[in-house]
Amino acid sequence: MKIIGINGSPRGERSATMRLIAAVLEGAEEKGAEVDVVNLIDLDIRFRNACSACFQEGRCAEEDDFPGLYQKIKAADGLVLGSPVYFDLVTGQMKLLIDRMADGIQCQALSGKYGCSVSTSGDHAEQTVVTYLNHVLQMLGATPVGGVGVATGKDQHALIRAEEDARELGKTLAEAIRTRRQYPEIEAFHQRFQKKFNAVITGAKPEWPGDYEHWVDQAWVW
Ligand SMILES: Cc1cc2nc3c(=O)[nH]c(=O)nc-3n(C[C@H](O)[C@H](O)[C@H](O)COP(=O)(O)O)c2cc1C
Repeated sequence: MKIIGINGSPRGERSATMRLIAAVLEGAEEKGAEVDVVNLIDLDIRFRNACSACFQEGRCAEEDDFPGLYQKIKAADGLVLGSPVYFDLVTGQMKLLIDRMADGIQCQALSGKYGCSVSTSGDHAEQTVVTYLNHVLQMLGATPVGGVGVATGKDQHALIRAEEDARELGKTLAEAIRTRRQYPEIEAFHQRFQKKFNAVITGAKPEWPGDYEHWVDQAWVW
């Protein structure tokens, strides 16, 4: 069972968000997961120009570090997304990664995977970011199992307490993967989403052959 943590803080290893991601991964490791972590700030991930190559060819035209990371993400069983709050939302580094996975929505690239999200703020909006990141996981086809957010500026011990919660979250994530835990509401969301995109993909067949082939491979259209 492989779980990968992705840190969107530009402060990388020194970041408070990284402490939460590390705690989630520790908890998951205790439950037998093989873990890995990526600091987005260490990678060369560039802006794209909405060229649609991924929709058409099933791969990105940009030769930076994104295709390798996307492969790593697709090879994992679980994902831990983490971002500090920047202006009430995720950092640019995290948003750039999300936008580069554009074809992941149509292809439901994270289907069958489980995930969770963590966030730290100075004062507010950490829960907004956790909710947003879990929604992104869900839109990409994954099943989010929970999240931990903490405002670090209010209370110097808050981060330490949140690390405990994050460790428990990691255990939950690993157990959900091991037992293929069912979350009926999320499953219903995925079924609605798949139905919607079935119509989009079959309707867009000539323009998006890459995505269409993926749906045929998955036996989602025939
Ligand atoms: C550019 C920038 C924008 C920020 N915006 C917010 C914000 O909107 N709300 C908030 O509570 N904290 C905000 N903060 C504070 C960070 O969210 C907080 O310090 C966080 O714990 C940093 O996490 P890190 O150590 O993982 O980078 C901001 C910090 C920076 C540098």
